[in-house]
Parts: sequence; C-alpha cells; structure tokens
Amino acid sequence: MKSHALLAIIGLFSVIVGAQKQEGFISLDCGFPIEESPYTDPSNGLTYTSDSTFIQTGKSATVNKDSNIKLLKPYLTLRYFPEGKRNCYSFIVKRGTNYLIYVSFVYGNYDGLNVIPNFDLYLGPDKWTRIDLDGRQNGTREEIIHKARSNSLDICLVKTGPTVPLVSAIEIRPLRNDTYVTQSGSLRLSFREYYSNSGGYIRYEDDVYDRIWSAQFDSSYTQLTTNLDINNSNIYEIPKVALKSAATPKNSSEPLIFTWYPQPSNSEVYLFMHFAEIQTLEANETREFDISLKGNFNYSRFSPDKLEVFTIYTDTPMKCGSEGCSLELVRTPNSTLPPLINALEAFKVIQFPQLETNLSDVSAIKNIKATYGLSKISWQGDPCLPQDLSWENLNCTYVFNTSTPPRIISLNLPASGLTGTIAPSLQNLTQIQELDLSNNSLTGPVPAFLANMKSLSLINLSGNNLSGSVPQSLLDREMQGLVLLRLDGNPKLCRFSSCNSKKKNGILVPVIASVASVVVLVVIVALFFVYRKKKVPSDALPDVPVEDVGHAKQSEPSFLSKKIRFTYSEVQEMTNNFQRTLGEGGFGIVYHGCVNGNQQVAVKLLSQSSSQGYKHFKAEVELLMRVHHINLVSLVGYCDEGDNLALIYEYMPNGDLKQHLSGKRGGFVLSWESRLRIAVDAALGLEYLHTGCKPPIVHRDIKSTNILVDECFQGKLADFGLSRSFPMGNETYVSTVVAGTPGYLDPEYYQTNWLTEKSDIYSFGIVLLEIITNRKIIDQSREKPHIVEWVGLIIGKGDIGNIVDPNLHRDYDIGSVWKAIEIAMSCVNLSSVKRPSMSQVVSDLKDCLISENSRTGESRDMNSVSSVEFSMDIDTQMIPKAR
Ligand SMILES: *[C@@H]1O[C@H](CO)[C@@H](O)[C@H](O)[C@H]1NC(C)=O
Ligand SMILES: *[C@@H]1O[C@H](CO)[C@@H](O)[C@H](O)[C@H]1NC(C)=O
Ligand SMILES: *[C@@H]1O[C@H](CO)[C@@H](O)[C@H](O)[C@H]1NC(C)=O
Ligand SMILES: *[C@@H]1O[C@H](CO)[C@@H](O)[C@H](O)[C@H]1NC(C)=O
Ligand SMILES: *[C@@H]1O[C@H](CO)[C@@H](O)[C@H](O)[C@H]1NC(C)=O
Ligand SMILES: *[C@@H]1O[C@H](CO)[C@@H](O)[C@H](O)[C@H]1NC(C)=O
Ligand SMILES: *[C@@H]1O[C@H](CO)[C@@H](O)[C@H](O)[C@H]1NC(C)=O
Ligand SMILES: *[C@@H]1O[C@H](CO)[C@@H](O)[C@H](O)[C@H]1NC(C)=O
Ligand SMILES: *[C@@H]1O[C@H](CO)[C@@H](O)[C@H](O)[C@H]1NC(C)=O
Ligand SMILES: *[C@@H]1O[C@H](CO)[C@@H](O)[C@H](O)[C@H]1NC(C)=O
Repeated sequence: MKSHALLAIIGLFSVIVGAQKQEGFISLDCGFPIEESPYTDPSNGLTYTSDSTFIQTGKSATVNKDSNIKLLKPYLTLRYFPEGKRNCYSFIVKRGTNYLIYVSFVYGNYDGLNVIPNFDLYLGPDKWTRIDLDGRQNGTREEIIHKARSNSLDICLVKTGPTVPLVSAIEIRPLRNDTYVTQSGSLRLSFREYYSNSGGYIRYEDDVYDRIWSAQFDSSYTQLTTNLDINNSNIYEIPKVALKSAATPKNSSEPLIFTWYPQPSNSEVYLFMHFAEIQTLEANETREFDISLKGNFNYSRFSPDKLEVFTIYTDTPMKCGSEGCSLELVRTPNSTLPPLINALEAFKVIQFPQLETNLSDVSAIKNIKATYGLSKISWQGDPCLPQDLSWENLNCTYVFNTSTPPRIISLNLPASGLTGTIAPSLQNLTQIQELDLSNNSLTGPVPAFLANMKSLSLINLSGNNLSGSVPQSLLDREMQGLVLLRLDGNPKLCRFSSCNSKKKNGILVPVIASVASVVVLVVIVALFFVYRKKKVPSDALPDVPVEDVGHAKQSEPSFLSKKIRFTYSEVQEMTNNFQRTLGEGGFGIVYHGCVNGNQQVAVKLLSQSSSQGYKHFKAEVELLMRVHHINLVSLVGYCDEGDNLALIYEYMPNGDLKQHLSGKRGGFVLSWESRLRIAVDAALGLEYLHTGCKPPIVHRDIKSTNILVDECFQGKLADFGLSRSFPMGNETYVSTVVAGTPGYLDPEYYQTNWLTEKSDIYSFGIVLLEIITNRKIIDQSREKPHIVEWVGLIIGKGDIGNIVDPNLHRDYDIGSVWKAIEIAMSCVNLSSVKRPSMSQVVSDLKDCLISENSRTGESRDMNSVSSVEFSMDIDTQMIPKAR
C-alpha cells in the first residue's frame, strides 16, 4: 500500500516537472558550434544551446587540452572578443521577473599564450563586476539575482586593458518575483550552502530553479540527516536533498556561528535561512534558539517545524561593518537541544542605478539597426550608456540625478551603405533633433512622418536615390523655418508635391460622365485649335518666337485641360478665393492655386488699378505662352475679364535664387557647384530668349529673385518679356519707359534709353556677382556701395579671397571662381559692345562648372551632370529649339 502511494506521488511529481522542464531557462554554451546545438549535459540534464543567435560579434575557441583542468562540457568552448571595446549578449526577458543569472569564465589557455585575461562584466548600462582570472585556473562564475526592468537584458564584456575578454557560459533562470525581494538593487551571491559532509553540490534538477548549492561542513558541527520526506512547499522551493541534512554544534551548549567578510565591508547584506526539524524529538525534548546577525537582526525563540521547511530572511538590508558578518544561532535556556540549520544563502546588494535609455528609443534604434543590417561594432548594449561606451553615430541627452532616462537626440549615418527605404521606425525616435542619412543608397519616397516629428530640426537626405515628391507637410515646416531640409543629390526626387485633391467638384476637372460632356470636350478642343490658329500670329504682334511645335508638345506641362484662358471665377476657384499668398512680384500678388485638382500653379493677379495700361495683354500673353524652354518658367494660362487680369504660371515650389543664397530657403549654404549649375540654367534660358526667339525677347528684369529654383534644383527664369508692355510695380523707380530693378539696371540703357539684349547681360553679370559674393548689390555702408565698383576695388587690391561668399568656406575650385568673376566683370562692362553674348556666357560658365566638378570628382546629381554633358554637345551657334 505504502509503496504504491509513493509510486503514485513520484509519478505525479515527474509529470509536473516534465511539464515545466527548464521552462524559461536560457542555457548558453558560448562558442559552441550552432550545428551541434542543442545538447543535454548528462551531468545535470540541462539542455545547452550555442550562443551564436544572441550575439553577432566575437570568435569561438576551445580550452587547451593540456591545461590540466577537468571541465564539464558547457565550459569547454568559449567566445572571446578581440574586436570592439564592448561586446554584448542581448536577451529577451519578461519585465518585472526576477532572474537568476550565471556567467562563467574559463580561460583554459585557449589561445596558447598563457596570458590571463581581466576585463569588466556589465549588466545593461551598469558595471556588474570586474573579472580577473588570475589564480582561477578552474575558472570563475558570477551569480546575480536581478529583476528585469525591461523586456530586454544585455550582458556585456568590456575590454579594460590589453587582454581579451571571454565568456564560457551564460545561464538565466526565471525565479518567482515574490522571492529574494530587496528594497532596492539586485543580489550578488556571497555563498549558498547546505550543511552536509557529503561534499559536492546540488543544482537542477534537484533544484527546480537551478540554484547551485554547495555542501559545507566544519569540524565544529555535528551532522543530522534524515531519510524521511520533507515538505519543501514554501515559495523558495528549497531542494529536498539540501534539507535532508543539517548542522548542529558539536558542543550542544555552544551557539552555531557563521562568519564571512563581504567586500566592501559596508556592503548591504541579505540572508535567507532555511530550517526544517529533521530529528525525531521525544516528548520532553525541545529545540529553540535565537537568531541574530550581530545587533542588526533578531529573531527570537525560533523552533523549526517538523519535516517542513521554514525560511527566515532579512527583509531590510543589513550592514555588518569592518569586523565582518557573524550569524549566530543561540540555544535558548529552556531548549533541550542545540540550534540547527539546513541551508543558508547570503547575498550582498549590488545597485544598478543607471536608468536604461528610453525603451521606445531603444526598440526604434534596434529596429533601424536590423532594417539596415548595420554591423557597427559599437552598436551593442544600451545605445546611450555608459556614456563612454555609447553607440557611435548617435548622440543622447543625459540628465543626471533624476529619474529621466537618456534619449536619443541625433542619428548621423552618412555614407553608411544604407539601402532600402527610409525606415518607418525612425518615427519612434520621438526626441530626435538631427537626422543625417546623406550619401547612402536609400530609395523610395521621403516619408510624410518626418513632418510630424516635431523635434527634428535638421534632416539631411542628400546624396541618395530617393524618388517621388517631397510631402507638402514637410515643405511647409521647412517654409516655417522649423526644419532644415537637405535633399540635393537625389536625381529622381522632386520637391513638387501635388495638391490636395479634396476639391473634387472643381470646375476644371473634365469629368467625362456622359456623352454630352464628351461632346463639350471635343468642342472645347476644337475651339482651342481654332483659337490658337487665329490668335497667335496676331497683327498686334507679328513677332513669333521660333518654335518647334512638335517638340514643344512633348515638354509642355501636362495640363489635362489645354485651356489657356480662364474666367475670373475659375481663377477664384483655383486659388480657393486667393487663400494662399506665395509672394509679391513686380505686377501684383502671386497666389497658390490648383488646376484639375492636382496640378499646382502660381497665379499672378495683376493689380487692377493700372489694368488699362495693359494694352496688348492678350496678344502678348499668348505670344509668351508659346515660349517654351526648360529654363523658363512656363506661362500656362491667363485671365482677362474686364479689369481682372491674371497670369497663371507653372508652380515653382522651391523659391528663388536669392532666398537660397541667403540661406532663408532650405537652411543650408548652396554649394559652389549648385550655384554654377543654376547660373548655367538661367543663362541657357536667357540665351534662348535672345537667340532662340525672333525677334529676340529682352527680359528687362534679370535679377536673383527672378531666377526660380524648381523641385530638382534646376534654375528657371521667371517674368520674362512682361516688362515690355506692362508698367512696373513699386519695385521700380523709373517710369514705364525705363524698366528694371535698381542695381541691376544697365547704366548705358538708363542713359540712352536704348534697349538691347546687352542690358540683360549687364543684369546677368550682377546676378553672377551675387552668386559669387552673396552680398548686397547696393550697400551704402560699403567703401563702394555698388557691387560692381566694390568687386573692382577688391580685385585691384589683389584680394580675391575677400570677394567670395565666406559661407562657402573655401570649398570650391579657385580657378572656377576666378573664371566666374572674370565672366561677371565682362558682363558688367560699362560699354555694352564690350559685353559678351549670352552664348559666350553660357559656354564660359559651363567651363567653370566642369572645372569645379572635376575637383569634386563625380557629382552625385547624375541628372545635372548628364544634362550638362548633353548641352556641351550642342552647337551654341545653332538656334536652340524649345525643349
Ligand atoms: C582546480 O580544481 C582541481 C580539482 O578539479 C583542484 O585540485 C585545484 O586545486 C583547483 N585549482 C584552483 C586554483 O582552485
Ligand atoms: C510579480 O510579477 C507579476 C507579473 O509578472 C506582477 O503582476 C507582480 O506585481 C510582481 N510582483 C512583484 C512583487 O514584483
Ligand atoms: C506542506 O506544507 C504546506 C504549507 O504548510 C501545506 O499546505 C501542504 O499541505 C503540505 N504538504 C504536504 C504533502 O504535507
Ligand atoms: C561546551 O561548552 C561549554 C560552554 O562554552 C563549556 O563550558 C564546555 O566545557 C564545553 N564542552 C566541551 C566538551 O568542550
Ligand atoms: C527525556 O525522557 C527520556 C525518557 O523518556 C530520558 O531518557 C531523557 O533523559 C529525558 N531528557 C530530558 C532532557 O529530560
Ligand atoms: C537585537 O538584540 C540585541 C540584543 O538583545 C539588541 O542589542 C539589538 O538592538 C537588537 N537588534 C534589533 C534590530 O532589534
Ligand atoms: C522556561 O520553562 C519554564 C517551565 O517549563 C517556564 O516557566 C518559563 O516561562 C520558560 N521560559 C521561557 C523564556 O519560555
Ligand atoms: C519613452 O518615450 C516615450 C515616447 O516619447 C514616452 O511615451 C515614454 O513615457 C518614455 N519613457 C520613459 C520611461 O520616459
Ligand atoms: C554628437 O556626436 C558626434 C559623434 O557622433 C560628436 O562629434 C558630436 O560632438 C556630438 N554632438 C554633441 C552635441 O554632443
Ligand atoms: C513604434 O512604437 C509603437 C509603440 O511603442 C509600436 O507599436 C510601433 O510598431 C512602432 N513603430 C515602428 C514603425 O516601429
């Protein structure tokens, strides 16, 4: 009967254990080949796996066979870390769970050098202990009981000198979180003993938590043992084998005393004492004793329960002082038997005070690391901590003496070989201020979430292969000066962004809903051609620009509706009742608008007061609408309804050259190369007006605010030809006869009132001087107020370095700058006949660009390079066709 019951209990026991077997255990045999993993260590039945999935760095080795040490299998191989200062294992754990962690180190002369290593062991951002293997041929093991503060746990080895860190095994066991509770800090093992003269040790699977208990005995003890079953079912689940024996003092009137010396001596100490009465007491026998830890802790008149474990522990930290710790079990006067103890654990508190980097930052940056497959050796462990080991390429904020965890505030990964799209995880770095992903191979769009990251003040995405359009929300933030956006060198990326297609019932959308509307459309198209045919070579203006209609069609803006003349109410609708102002130009205010719900336009509403002056408005505008060149801002429509005159242009979302030179746009300094490129573009546009149109069109108002920059950083001339028949607005100081902007105005034209293309060339020379110097054209505080005289003065002094924009930081080919100054000065020659032609200027500027490009090597902006090279093949004497 009895034996049956016992079998039943054993059977039940093994079923329960089987179900929970090594549940949550992590047992890593470091350096063990993954192909042979896992295996079960026959000595204890624990299943070990290779460590290679928990760490990306380090190398494997095996202890030297001649090192004369007997090792269990898990300690035969090891991982050592010749590279990097900090190498970390990263574990996924459960936050709030108490973990028992063993880390074991055996040198075993694995490298044959017999150089005993020493290094530091870290837990997350905190130093755990120093590992010095000197005098520990059999290796050493560190144990800690630690409550996880997050769902990840890093164990790091940190190089502190010339020797190479190593690790042999890492074992992690979850414990109940109501055991081994401390007021603060984690518990570092001083000793864990059970009292038996049998020698050896106990661990899994006698101990379900795999605590390692070593058998201790002393000649001053008498051993008690039992074969009876002991009820060990308190929360500590002390292994029954450990409870089956106990120590009592040999002289039964003496106390039991345990003495040890924690280092440092003021360490905080916790004790866990496990008692069970294993002697069969007679009726007249009692065992009662007082427990004290040297004045720190008293537990009076304790009598162990019969065959049932009772754990007494210190629930506040104790300090022992310089004379060491002394635990005394003193028999009370009435007790007939001496004190007894079965097992004892002593710990000292180890504080891990550093708060880990904000968890959402950590998970975001780890995600980014994984997304891009970054294998930077420093990118292990906590990103920000400890500060001297923080990850390269990022910066953090550190607030000391507070409960604020560090935050990642910048991520700089220029030229880091990143591929793929811009990682969505970036948006979880919510405190980031600077993001530099320049000069990688990133593709795909610029994500809109960047605009929602309110702390971001600098975004550098230049030199990638991004495509699509830049989200308007981001451009808006840039406009508000909240973020510096660098997007240059992304040939497929356009700053253009389409309109909100909210206004579905916009009248300009040709919704072909019925046969009727198709008919209407056909009629409109037919009318359009009739209209063009009739009106364009109008008698009002017999001059027709040379235009290859076939070419022009291809490059015309892709307006679905070829409608060019709009009613005033249509203009109101497209500008959403003149809601958003883009700026104020020479002839009136410019508004943002949308045509067909998605095509953005700039609508220039001409000031009504002087509308009677626009005599040839319609004729001139229709002429200008036929001037198409890639470097001219296209006029795409107009409105002339009574006094309401408006011009509708292609929208240039990227501002003008002057804004870019002043840094008000984009927030970065235009490179010399970009300046030259925009200058070449503007020159090409002007050359087309001068030589591609017959008779030539004189722009009359060349200035840096009339050179617009498109989404792909291409320069385009705006406002051409208008000054011919329209009086200038408040920007001018002269009558309708002499048009132009002060400073840019050709003095010869001003004097003679005789307008030729050479006046444009003078103004273009002034623009070039602006590009070179980035200074005011007229500055009364200067020795020479006008820029031409000022530059002339400085050249005379031979002081060229002072001419060039200091913001360029001498990052240019000096020959290229010299040449540009030379071109500019020839353009501003007081005598118009001595000024070069635009074709000459174009060709000279291209030379400048080529010499600058050859300095910087291959330009990143492939588009621009190819367009320059393409242009080089064109015979500049040939009349440019519309492109
Ligand atoms: C290493 O262990 C062996 C027994 O396995 C022992 O004899 C030796 O003293 C130990 N060495 C050290 C330094 O503890
Ligand atoms: C123990 O863990 C559980 C869940 O894991 C948690 O709810 C509980 O608060 C924890 N107890 C302590 C004392 O930390
Ligand atoms: C062991 O002790 C606990 C608590 O004292 C008790 O609830 C349980 O029934 C006991 N188990 C056995 C097998 O006696
Ligand atoms: C036992 O201890 C008591 C008190 O310290 C002492 O008087 C006695 O001599 C000791 N007996 C032996 C056998 O050592
Ligand atoms: C307890 O009783 C037994 C007899 O039952 C006797 O031999 C023994 O001396 C007694 N012990 C004490 C301490 O009184
Ligand atoms: C423990 O007892 C000793 C002596 O009776 C006393 O001096 C000490 O203050 C007590 N300690 C505590 C923490 O109660
Ligand atoms: C010791 O035992 C005597 C008689 O058995 C009793 O009167 C006394 O209170 C006991 N002392 C203590 C401290 O329990
Ligand atoms: C970490 O950052 C997130 C996102 O900003 C925030 O919600 C969370 O409260 C932060 N955590 C701590 C501990 O500060
Ligand atoms: C940010 O980190 C870089 C290195 O990645 C360092 O050069 C720079 O000084 C840091 N900036 C700040 C403000 O700490
Ligand atoms: C950002 O963090 C939230 C919660 O912390 C998470 O649910 C989300 O998946 C993260 N997003 C990315 C793109 O990593």
